[in-house]
Amino acid sequence: MSVHKEIKKVTTNVLLEMKRRGEKIAMLTAYDFTTASIVDSAGIDVILVGDSASNVMAGHETTLPITLDQMIYHASSVVRGIDRALIVVDLPFGSYQGNSKEALNSAIRIMKESGAHAVKLEGGAEIRESIERILSAGIPVMGHLGLTPQSIYKFGTYTVRAREEEEARRLIQDAHILEKAGCFALVLEKIPAALAEKVAKELTIPVIGIGAGGGVDGQVLVFHDMVGLTKEFSPRFLRRYLNLNEEITSAVGNYVKDVKSRDFPNQNEQY
Ligand code: KIV
Repeated sequence: MSVHKEIKKVTTNVLLEMKRRGEKIAMLTAYDFTTASIVDSAGIDVILVGDSASNVMAGHETTLPITLDQMIYHASSVVRGIDRALIVVDLPFGSYQGNSKEALNSAIRIMKESGAHAVKLEGGAEIRESIERILSAGIPVMGHLGLTPQSIYKFGTYTVRAREEEEARRLIQDAHILEKAGCFALVLEKIPAALAEKVAKELTIPVIGIGAGGGVDGQVLVFHDMVGLTKEFSPRFLRRYLNLNEEITSAVGNYVKDVKSRDFPNQNEQY
């Protein structure tokens, strides 16, 4: 039987066991109670309370403006919606970079105030001290390399990362540093598939990709993109499983029409 079917609660050890058995890990974002309970009952392994909430929930252009308090609000709503999935929460921009003590305090606030199970940080060697300090408090850490949206103003573009040899070499080095530091898993975003596969083969911890091809140990997508709630964002790596934007627009249009025409509510829809 697969690990996925055997277990009642996903833990970091369960993810390791999935990698050992060659069983792929399915991860999606969620930011609220209702969505979290739907994706959890549908069998998702990991829910990421991503700082992409800054884009898809709050309408900001980047992930930078979202605050630690706002991440805790989203995370605690998600925690109330799940029975089985492992919940990982992004440490937001400005809550961990360059100061390991602040990183630890931010991670502790997330764990204490939301009830989530782990945190995710973007970066490699430069945040090693923060990662080690968080881990020393017993808080599991997921790494994130490749396209790291909190550094968008350094990159200048959301294009594929690590195409050049030097950047690819540094990414591999960073991946090993994160594994050695004690991260339980690693997200690789928007890098060449061959590079991602090489990293996944070299590491013993699970590597979860977004726009990183099929040679990794699992996949993550932003929920709003995957169900077609967002329309404009259409990168090559995105598979849309629904077209909810069109369906909801049509449903709301019908509701407006029915209210205006006095068709809603009818005799059976009132007391
Ligand atoms: O915030 C987010 O949704 C993420 C995923 C894209 C991995 O970090």
